[in-house]
Amino acid sequence: MESKEITKEQALSLKGYKHACHIMLYGDTDAKLFGKIPTKHIVLMQMRFDGLLGFPGGLVNPGQESLESGLSREIGEELGVALCVSPEDHLSTQLASSPPNLVCHFFVKKMTEEELREVEKAAVVASDHGLEVMGLVRVPLFTLRNGGGLSSFLSHSFIGNSRSQLLSALRTLGLVSHHDLEAAVTRADKSLH
Ligand code: GTP
Ligand code: MN
Ligand code: MN
Ligand code: MN
Ligand code: MN
Ligand code: MN
Repeated sequence: MESKEITKEQALSLKGYKHACHIMLYGDTDAKLFGKIPTKHIVLMQMRFDGLLGFPGGLVNPGQESLESGLSREIGEELGVALCVSPEDHLSTQLASSPPNLVCHFFVKKMTEEELREVEKAAVVASDHGLEVMGLVRVPLFTLRNGGGLSSFLSHSFIGNSRSQLLSALRTLGLVSHHDLEAAVTRADKSLH
């Protein structure tokens, strides 16, 4: 899905557009899968009500609230935590290819492993749990010997441009090496055809 990168300011000056704000919560971890495979980082996404993977967040009306406070409100509804989002957490803004007249603002926030565990605990009792949100998931960032892991995760279906938001965040934040990321994408794209 093609989508055009624009600045946050350009987006806010558009007339008749809706604004969506979503966030990737992430952090470091020493945890090893099966006691040997380093999981390295925790990256949170969610299974949505429509069966698609996406990030926590939602529609924000910039006429009534700032992008950051609207995103905090959505985080409260979907994850059941009070989380302060600041303008520095903004990573990118894109014109959605569909639906028309939608811009997607993407934020990232680094947290400690303990804080991320608290988010996961709170999410199951959030007001939207079982409704808009079917559950939080951690993204497997490693590649297993049989090729599973990140590439299998990338073979699922994603809402809007959330898959490319995930890939660009993993690249920009250096959470997965360039080589491993390209290999996982190639493998996932093959399995999708
Ligand atoms: P309501 O409260 O029911 O309106 O839902 P919401 O405010 O939580 O909105 P939602 O999270 O569904 O996001 C609004 C729109 O943004 C969706 O209809 C999708 O087109 C798009 N969208 C949803 N999740 C993501 C995401 O993770 N990334 C991107 N880029 N777009 C998304
Ligand atoms: Mn087991
Ligand atoms: Mn939402
Ligand atoms: Mn919502
Ligand atoms: Mn909403
Ligand atoms: Mn809602």
